[in-house]
Amino acid sequence: ETVEYAAESYDLGGHDTYMHKEISEQADAVDRALRGRIDDRFSTVHLGGLNLDAREARTIRRVKILGCGTSYHAGQIGAQMIEELARIPSDAEPASEFRYRDPVVDPDTLYVAVSQSGETYDVLAAVQELKRKGARVLGLVNVVGSAIARETDGGIYVHAGPEVCVVSTKCFTNMVVSFALLALHLGRIRDLSVADGKRIIEGLRKLPGQIDEILKGEEEIKKLSAAYADAKSMMFIGRVRGYPVAREASLKLKEVSYIHAEAYPASELKHGPLALIEPAMPTVAIVPDDDLLEKNRAALEEIKARSGRILAVAHQDQEKADDTIIVPKNEPELDPILMGIPLQLLAYHTALALGRDIDKPRNLAKSVTVE
Ligand code: AGP
Repeated sequence: ETVEYAAESYDLGGHDTYMHKEISEQADAVDRALRGRIDDRFSTVHLGGLNLDAREARTIRRVKILGCGTSYHAGQIGAQMIEELARIPSDAEPASEFRYRDPVVDPDTLYVAVSQSGETYDVLAAVQELKRKGARVLGLVNVVGSAIARETDGGIYVHAGPEVCVVSTKCFTNMVVSFALLALHLGRIRDLSVADGKRIIEGLRKLPGQIDEILKGEEEIKKLSAAYADAKSMMFIGRVRGYPVAREASLKLKEVSYIHAEAYPASELKHGPLALIEPAMPTVAIVPDDDLLEKNRAALEEIKARSGRILAVAHQDQEKADDTIIVPKNEPELDPILMGIPLQLLAYHTALALGRDIDKPRNLAKSVTVE
C-alpha cells in the first residue's frame, strides 16, 4: 500500500495551529480509512495487508494490543471492540510495561502494535522481542514504511494522513476506526452475524457526516472551554466503552493545556476519588445512551451531591450536568469514536484560552525514539 501526500497536506491550510487543522480533517481522514475496504456482499471488510488467512484467524485465542500514550488508549477501545464483535478475549497494555515484565508469549495470541509514527522505541522493542520469540505480530500504524510497519508480519495502515501537532487527534480517531475494521473482519470470520456485520458497516458509513456535525458545534465548545479554563484540576469519568475515552480526553487536556487531569472509571469514584470532588474540581463525564446510562446517571448524582461541577458528553441532555455536549448516536460499539472528538476541541480551546504553545507542548516530542 502506497499513499503519497502532497506538500499541501503539511501546510496550515488557513488554520492557526496544526492541532486545529488536524481536528478539522477528521471526517476526511475517517473516510480515507474506510475507502475500498468495505465488502457489502459479505458484510465484512477487506484488509489487504493483514497477511492472516481465515483459517489462521480462527485459531486466535487472545488479542494483546501494545502501544504508548494516545495509541495505547486507542488500543484499549480496540480491545473492547474485538472482544465485543469477534468474541476473542482482548486487552491493551502500555508497550513499555509489557516488555519489561518478562511476558509469557503465547503462540495462540495475536499481538497488535499500534503507533502513529511507527518509530516509538518502546513499541518497536516490544515488537522485536515478540518476533524473536516467534509470536504473530500485526501493526496498526499511520506512517507508511516506518520501522514498526516494516518489522511486523502484516497490518493495517490507519491512513490519517500526516499528523504534525505533537498532540495526536485525527490519528487517534483513525486508529479506533481501524480497530473497528479489524474487529468486524475477525468477527465475520468467526461468529458475528450478517445482520450485525451490516449494522456495523452502516454505522461506519455514518461516521464522517456525524464527525462534521460535531465539529459544527465548535463555537459552543469554545465557550465551555473558557468557562472551565480556570480549573486547577479536572476529573474525567466513563464506564466500559466510555472509560478509555475519558482517559484519552484527560491526557489531551494535560498535554496541551497543562491542567492536571485524572481519569477514573465512574464505578470507582466511591472507592476514593470522590474525596476530591468539590466546586473547584470539575468533572467531565462520558454518558452514552447505552445499557450503562442509569449507572452513569447515578454517578452524576453522587458528584452533584458533593457540589461538583459537571460537563457531560452525552447523546441526550443530562439533568444533573451543568453543561452537556450532545453527540450524535451511532451503533453502541462505535460510539467511543465520536465521543472523544468534542473533548479534543475542549482541550484545544482551553489551551488557546491559556495561551499555551499548542503544537509543541513543553517537554514533549512527536515521536519518542529513545527509551
Ligand atoms: C499523543 O497526544 C501523545 N503525544 C503521545 O502519547 C503519543 O501518542 C505516544 O508517544 C505514542 O506515539 P506513537 O503513536 O507515534 O507511537
